[in-house]
Amino acid sequence: MTSMLSLRSCVATVAFTTVVAASVAACSSSEPQTSEPGVVSPSRPVETNPTFTGTIAWILQDRCQRCHSEGGIAPFPLVSYEEVKGLASLAAEKMATREMPPWGAFDDETCKVNHKWKDDLRATPEEIEAFAKWVAAGKPYGNEADRPSPKTFPPSGLPSKTHTIGMKAPHEVMAGGKDDIRCFPVDPGFAEDTWVSGTNVAPGNPRIVHHVIVYSDPNREGVVKAGAAGSYPCFGGPEVSNPNLVLAWAPGVPPNVLPEDTGLKIAKSSHLIVQVHYHPAQTTQSDQTQFELRVMQGKPSWVAQVILAGNAEGPDGIIKLLPGPADPPSGPEFKIPANAPAHTETMEVVVPDNIGGFPFPQASLIATGAHMHWAGVDMKIEIERKTATADQPAKECLLGTPKYDFNWQRAYAYDAPMEKLPAIGAGDKIRFSCKYDNTTNNRHVRKALAEMQQAAPTDISLGEQTLDEMCLGVLVAVRRASLID
Ligand code: HEC
Repeated sequence: MTSMLSLRSCVATVAFTTVVAASVAACSSSEPQTSEPGVVSPSRPVETNPTFTGTIAWILQDRCQRCHSEGGIAPFPLVSYEEVKGLASLAAEKMATREMPPWGAFDDETCKVNHKWKDDLRATPEEIEAFAKWVAAGKPYGNEADRPSPKTFPPSGLPSKTHTIGMKAPHEVMAGGKDDIRCFPVDPGFAEDTWVSGTNVAPGNPRIVHHVIVYSDPNREGVVKAGAAGSYPCFGGPEVSNPNLVLAWAPGVPPNVLPEDTGLKIAKSSHLIVQVHYHPAQTTQSDQTQFELRVMQGKPSWVAQVILAGNAEGPDGIIKLLPGPADPPSGPEFKIPANAPAHTETMEVVVPDNIGGFPFPQASLIATGAHMHWAGVDMKIEIERKTATADQPAKECLLGTPKYDFNWQRAYAYDAPMEKLPAIGAGDKIRFSCKYDNTTNNRHVRKALAEMQQAAPTDISLGEQTLDEMCLGVLVAVRRASLID
């Protein structure tokens, strides 16, 4: 499809959000005191012999209940002793495998990120161990007096939103079917260029809405594709020319609130395309997902932009595919062989002076993210700067996602003041390394093969379909509006 061709042409400047979870964060109140970078300790230290009231209930409040409580987006609450007891072994297992809480960004020996993450969802190793120990000890209740007072969570909407735009009619998702990734074009009615300082997705039916990506459609092509049905299937992207990414949302990602006096631009008369990943339930369900915006008065001093970069097809583009395993004699090729358990494709770009008409210098990254499909297991984004300074080292790893999960795509925001945020400028080299597990050990590959009624993995190339792959880095940059136009 054409859209990804435009993304594939290397670098697209995009309006995105992701950004700063100013409003909802505050999961944990204590001082950081942890062995793991970017993770905040629970409100109290874990007990040597953990009890429900003295340790587990505190961990659940800090790490789980923002989703797993009444009205939360998770399918069941983890609040009362009775609720937790029945699911405790599964919960301990999901914590140990780091599937829960859902969070993909971890440091490992190949990538140490220089900043903490905003709104970090992760449990600490001590908490994971305590949970397992509590289960093994027979789930003791403990002293009533140790139990934390119940915590309430802020409503999930975007604070001070000005617009709620959504699907015109409910969409029906049949029981028990395949996952469906579907695009809904909507007209926000912006006659002039518009800047927004906050965005959020309000899923209509959290039982089936797995994740949502919002694009702008400057040429209003989505409505034509959707026709009378009002929507169309669109696995890899919105399939229109020059789409700009506006927001990537997964359950539990708080509303995106940009820093003071910072906005992202939605060009006049653009439509928006809301791409929803539906995960069918046991019964037929309907959904009417909404997209919330906070429109600014006039133009801000700082402009946020999203740069999507990657998907290099060969060694000759602006973004170059570097030599890798399984290349043919003719040179680098994006190909993930069938049954390769840890195949990596690497691509590199030297940031040009000008991208999409925008001069590049003096941008700061507020967030980064990764986009791959089902075989993707880890993406690393690294920068090598032309000029190093005290705050901006010559080499820096910007993101590593060894727990990447297609279902939980989001961007990760750095917790640092503007001047310390990773800087990016013309002449800097950025490298994207995407690792894939194209075997049936990968549960996502198993599921995708079953849905496509395919018996075994096949070679994977670059593309938009379920069994194709991508390697796109999401770079959310801010810069002075005066530098742009
Ligand atoms: C950001 C929201 C969020 C947070 C935080 C979260 N969960 Fe979940 N959890 C979900 C959702 C949504 C599901 C439903 C399954 C899915 O969509 O992947 C789920 C599913 C589960 C499951 C069932 C998995 C299965 O395979 O059946 C368990 C167990 C679980 N969570 C435990 C936890 C525990 C324990 C914590 C905290 C340590 C936690 N979760 C934190 C959103 C969350």
